[in-house]
Amino acid sequence: MADVVVKSQVGGGGGIVIDDDWPGYSLDLFSYPAHYSGDLDCVVVPHGVIMDRTERLARNIMDDLGDHDIVVLCVLKGGYQFCVDLVDKIKALSRNSNRTLPMRVHFIRLKSYLNDQSTEDLHIVGAEDLSFLAGKNVLIVEAIVGTGKTMKALLKHVESFSPKLVKVAGLLVKRVPHNSTCLPDYVGFEIPDRFVVGYALDYNEYFRDLNHICVISERGKTKYKI
Ligand code: HPA
Ligand code: MG
Repeated sequence: MADVVVKSQVGGGGGIVIDDDWPGYSLDLFSYPAHYSGDLDCVVVPHGVIMDRTERLARNIMDDLGDHDIVVLCVLKGGYQFCVDLVDKIKALSRNSNRTLPMRVHFIRLKSYLNDQSTEDLHIVGAEDLSFLAGKNVLIVEAIVGTGKTMKALLKHVESFSPKLVKVAGLLVKRVPHNSTCLPDYVGFEIPDRFVVGYALDYNEYFRDLNHICVISERGKTKYKI
């Protein structure tokens, strides 16, 4: 069986830290869909900043994994936008240098949230047979990591298919009371423990059509509660 190397520590690459007392940007400073007017408190990470940070993560990934083909495992639904943009940035780097990173992209779906609460049961869909990961370098792409429980369960599942190497890219790491040691290798931003939406992150399926990462307002929570 191939050795599985799982490196999941936030070191110098722990991402851009957004402090608990950062009030965010006023929504009036940016444009966003009018149908969400009143449903948001503030902008935590504007879309342009997400893109710039993603470009740098793509470079770090190229530096570590370049020249060996990888399987990108995109964690749906929240991870789709980050995955598309990260893969795009890696493609641009491959075009513009003599280093290249052949990628295959596979999609799996995880669901564990109802309203703004994590539920106990984690469903992994589309991951029943990942035997094609055997001996491969795998990059898991996740939008947000909280307690790390979901990530831990997913890593365990992926490891059972004997990949050669597993790395995790997480756009956001939330500072929750029980942050696990299981944190991504590539982190975009470390954010306060507040429920955020946008850039494909949802609240009961709403707000995926918002470009910026924002804090949902109490009114927004009530309006879209189920
Ligand atoms: N927003 C959306 N989905 C999530 C979050 C969040 O803050 N945390 C875990 N899943
Ligand atoms: Mg969700």
